[in-house]
Formats: sequence, structure tokens, C-alpha cells
Amino acid sequence: MSENTFAKDIHSGLSAPFKHISSKYFYDDIGSGIFQDIMKMPEYYPTACEFEILSMQSAQIIARLNFNEPFNIVEFGAGDGIKTRQLLKQLVDKDVDFSYVPIDISKRAIEELEANMLEHLPSLKIKPMIGNYFSMIEALSAAKEASLFLFLGGNIGNYEKDEVDALLTSFQKSMKPGDKLLTGFDLQKNPSTIRYAYDDPAGITKAFNMNLLHRINRELGGNIQTNQFDFYSYYNPTNGEVRSYLVSLAKQKIHLQLIDKCYDFEQNELIRTELSRKYTLKEIEAAATKNGFKLLEHFLDCKHYFTDSLWVK
Ligand code: AVI
Repeated sequence: MSENTFAKDIHSGLSAPFKHISSKYFYDDIGSGIFQDIMKMPEYYPTACEFEILSMQSAQIIARLNFNEPFNIVEFGAGDGIKTRQLLKQLVDKDVDFSYVPIDISKRAIEELEANMLEHLPSLKIKPMIGNYFSMIEALSAAKEASLFLFLGGNIGNYEKDEVDALLTSFQKSMKPGDKLLTGFDLQKNPSTIRYAYDDPAGITKAFNMNLLHRINRELGGNIQTNQFDFYSYYNPTNGEVRSYLVSLAKQKIHLQLIDKCYDFEQNELIRTELSRKYTLKEIEAAATKNGFKLLEHFLDCKHYFTDSLWVK
């Protein structure tokens, strides 16, 4: 992502009447490291739940694909690939003819993923693609082979409703009839369980959000005194939304040297940072139908906290 895009988005977000910074900017090298720490926290259940699903139910997922010819497994935002590897291992062990196509915007992430996958699964056919989802989706629509698209990790929860529809529609348009989509959705559950996952006592999620301010200081020459900001996150069980914010602790002005712009903050003024939506099974089925898919099966963990939901076009 170019520095200019970051600068432009930060400028428009901090100039808006209700200030906001997109959660996609969490993931610079430092933020990606903090996210690794989040995934190891006892309070952050989604990673363990999806790992359980993919290690215990890969055979059942593969059985539902019903592909008879060689096919592609296309993964959007593969991360470290440990969960996906559980699924791929089943196929490699069964000598199934398929190619794995991970897509990520970060060249470094893709290179690490490829090395890691090949270390564990040396015979895996891997064809990585570097770029943003939307431009890669277009390139994929030319593929002759059948495809399984993977959108795991509950990443869909970080999109607003209209963005979810735009993303699912673009997946759908680039797929052929019979192609499948496996998406990870975090499910609604005891509100306290969700609240602690996004506001942990050790403050790791706070550090994840505060890194946005450090990143602005690092990359845009900001003079933000980060101790003049706090973190606030809450879960609303009536609509399934976790919303996270940075809170200005004082009336203050910040300056970003690189773009020579100032921004004023009132005391207690908020910067919206992240949405993490929790779904019901009914809402997931409605999203499938609305965007031109048919729900085939939900693969749930034993606590029913998370689903990998398999859809067909
Ligand atoms: C990447 N994404 C699915 C995470 C989530 O659970 O929404 C990001 C995250 N934010 C705070 N903790 C984890």
C-alpha cells in the first residue's frame, strides 16, 4: 500500500465530522505482530475454534466440494496459513489434484507463507498472487478450473454491511456455477465472552489499536502524544456489533509533518477504528441468498462459537 494512500485516508478520516481510521491500517509489520499475540490470548477464541473446525472436519468439507476434475483453492488473506494447512494436508495426503492460490497484498507475507507451506507440504502445488482482492478477483474469473474460494478467520466481520455485499457479489461474479466459497463467521454468543475477546485485561487489543497512532507518528511525521489517547471497545448484543474506538483524553491539536496538516480534538472525542460483527446462522444464510449463493453446510466448532460456512454458486 503506498504511503500516499495511507496519508490520504488518514487525512480524510481525521477531517471527518466523526473521525475514523480504517482497521485495515492495523496491519503494518508491528500491528501484524500484535495480531499474532491476540490470536494466542486465552480470551480470543476465534482462532482456536476455526483451527478445531479445520483440523477435525476437513474430510467432511472436502466431501461436500464434489469436484471431479483438478481444481483451485483460492485463499483471500491467508495470514500464516496454519489453519488452512489442516485442510490442504487432507487433500495432499489423499493425492488429490489441486493448486493452492493464496492472495495477499503483502509480498513479504506471501513469501513467508509459501516457504512455510512447502516446508510442511513439499508436494503442494502453490501459485501465489500478490495484489488487492478486487483486482485479483477479476484475474481469477478467467480460470477454466473449478474453484473453492476461502475467506477464513472471520475477516468478513470487519466489513460494514454494504461492503460485505460488494465483496460477496464480486466473489460471486468471478465464480462459475458449481464453484464453492468457504467463509469463516464469528457467531453471536454470551456477550461477556465476546466483550473480553475484544477488550482483554492484558491490554493487547488496546496496543493493537494504539499502534494506529504510533504508525501515524512513524509514517506521517506525527507529533501525537499517545498517552493522551485511550482505547474503548464494546459489544452490542442487540445488533451483534463490536465497535472499537480511540478516545482523546484532552482537548488537543495534532500535527502531521509529512502532509503539513493539523487536526483538533475535543476532550473525549472518538476515532472509530474497527467493526467486528458477530452473526447468527440465519443472517449468514440470508447473506448467501442475497448475493447469489446457496448455503450447503455449516461446519461449527464444538462450542458453536464459530462457523466455516460452505456455499455454492
Ligand atoms: C482480523 N479480524 C477477524 C479480527 C477480529 O476478530 O475482528 C481483528 C481483531 N480485532 C481485535 N481483535 C482481533
